[in-house]
Amino acid sequence: MALHDVGILGTGHMGQGLALAWAAAGHRVTLGSRDAAAARARLPAATASRLACGHYADAAARDVVVLATPFAATAELVGRHAGLLAGKVIVDITNPFGAAPAGMPGIAVHAAALGRPARWVAAFKTNFWCTIAAVDGRARPCLLAADDAAAKAVAADLARAAGFAPEDCGGLQHALTLDLLVPLMIEMDGQRGATHRSYWQFVAGTTPG
Ligand SMILES: NC(=O)c1ccc[n+]([C@@H]2O[C@H](COP(=O)([O-])OP(=O)(O)OC[C@H]3O[C@@H](n4cnc5c(N)ncnc54)[C@H](OP(=O)(O)O)[C@@H]3O)[C@@H](O)[C@H]2O)c1
Repeated sequence: MALHDVGILGTGHMGQGLALAWAAAGHRVTLGSRDAAAARARLPAATASRLACGHYADAAARDVVVLATPFAATAELVGRHAGLLAGKVIVDITNPFGAAPAGMPGIAVHAAALGRPARWVAAFKTNFWCTIAAVDGRARPCLLAADDAAAKAVAADLARAAGFAPEDCGGLQHALTLDLLVPLMIEMDGQRGATHRSYWQFVAGTTPG
């Protein structure tokens, strides 16, 4: 597996969880925060040598950039760092929960905020934070959509490194569906008392005969 130079915008449940998993797998990881010192203080001391903490611009300067901020805050951050993000592999894990214009995936809102070409991947949207690097022996699917095959392969590497099984969901025309799967997943997870351990899985079935 190739090792990647990853920056993550946001140091919450997802940002920190993915950062720890990827650093443990050998990737170079830079977490970007509004308050780098506070973000550093929240991390286990043992990670100091392999996990950098900086501001958003430090994370946006890396080769692969992951958007792990609240949807409502992300477009402004993308626009502010457009010069650093243009042309990059950008992995958008944000969930709009209805805040994107009707019929538009969140990733399109962020692409518009960037205003320049980039290699967008929608990923990790349907992976609850507490299932990152879960140790129950199940590699939960990480649904990936992207038009750029090489960018999707990078996201697949990162999914595997965080303990998930990458599931190719085709091009970005399916990004809206991934957004819409999330509220349904949360509803069903709650109904079944699954405590945020549930996940979506595509089962191909078997060919008769
Ligand atoms: N939670 C999940 O299971 C899950 C699963 C898949 C996808 N997602 C998506 O991933 C993204 C991050 O989720 P999360 O659960 O990690 O969220 P979270 O725990 O609330 O963390 C979000 C981080 O974003 C940063 N941030 C920047 N601007 C902010 C603002 N105006 N208000 C609040 N935080 C701001 C903060 O980091 P700094 O203070 O360091 O700047 C904060 O720690 C969201 O878009 C969410 O929909 C979440």
